[in-house]
Amino acid sequence: MNDKRRPDKNVVDWVEPAVARLNPYQPGRPLEEVAREIGLAPEQVCKLASNENALGVSPLAVEAMRRHAEDMYLYPDGSAYYLRQKVAENFQVRPEQIVFGAGSNELLEFIGHCFMGAGRSIVVSQYAFVIYKLLAMMFGSDIVEVPACELGHDLGAMAAAVRPDTRVVFVCNPNNPTGTFLRPEEIAAFVERIPDDVLIVFDEAYAEISLEPMPDTLRFVLERPNCLMLRTFSKAYGLAGLRIGFGIGPHNLTAALEKPRQPFNTNRMAQEAAVAALDDNDFLIRTRQLCLESRDYFEEACRELGLAYAPTAGNFILVRTGNGGEIAQKLTRRGIIVRPVVPYGLPDHIRITFGTMPENQRVIDALRDIMPTGSN
Ligand SMILES: Cc1ncc(COP(=O)(O)O)c(C=O)c1O
Repeated sequence: MNDKRRPDKNVVDWVEPAVARLNPYQPGRPLEEVAREIGLAPEQVCKLASNENALGVSPLAVEAMRRHAEDMYLYPDGSAYYLRQKVAENFQVRPEQIVFGAGSNELLEFIGHCFMGAGRSIVVSQYAFVIYKLLAMMFGSDIVEVPACELGHDLGAMAAAVRPDTRVVFVCNPNNPTGTFLRPEEIAAFVERIPDDVLIVFDEAYAEISLEPMPDTLRFVLERPNCLMLRTFSKAYGLAGLRIGFGIGPHNLTAALEKPRQPFNTNRMAQEAAVAALDDNDFLIRTRQLCLESRDYFEEACRELGLAYAPTAGNFILVRTGNGGEIAQKLTRRGIIVRPVVPYGLPDHIRITFGTMPENQRVIDALRDIMPTGSN
């Protein structure tokens, strides 16, 4: 036994170097944790840090979850049959063109398993959703980061940046955390320039609440061999806690993405809730309406406070407050959780998720108090 000991070594010394080097994604702090820290009741804290839906959960989804609570001793249907049929019908695609994930984050991970690795590269825009880069680091792919244009994707430069070893190009629209938006004609011109063997991922997590008309990327999914559209139930449908999203692409692509999928990756409750949520048009309309109202409110308040902001198409706004980390901390002490975006290379900004109108007013009142006048 003793001679097998290697006291100079520890199991963690054997963690794959690419994994050991990772700095895990820092999600928005949980409401309960902040409430405990500052000694407030959770109801007194407002969380405007993870782009969740200010109206809560789709009421039709809540009803479905109540109805199905007692089925939860059963494993889920791994193929998500009913949800698959419903999504296929809604998008007018074949059921086998859809792949489901525990949130669209898991789908991004499937893309990593399938297409990333040593000797390959991905193309991303500076300030794009950071998970793309984290996955590339984890899988050992090179990252070609293309400088942003007014905080948004420079699609022309991204197309030009594609290298012979590029396997995936990520297009996040509307983009998190900047809220920037790509117009249909920009996307169409971009798709034309990307070789057929390079996967284009359209990450459209905010599509259903987009404050600008969404490009018809489904058209490219149907016409081209290399386009994948990602959607989630986390935002517009208010189901972030359930973890469910989907991708639509050509069948040979979705079949490849299915391979790294665990048999029960999306849970039974999530599937039931998602089926019901897809019928909840009223909730979608109210969500979009509140987002529009919030955007007008924040833009006007920022102008009044002399704070620069990025015009946004999502349910959040990127505001240049100067010293974002410190401002976020000050807001946290007042029971308002927003997102500093230092890891994105935006140390002077904070990202504020749109809340209910009283929550929006609360964060602006707090900023008015906190911000030294005339600074941004
Ligand atoms: C652009 C974008 N893509 C994907 C996701 C992942 O969402 P989920 O895993 O909840 O579907 C998010 C979440 O914030 C996002 O902003």
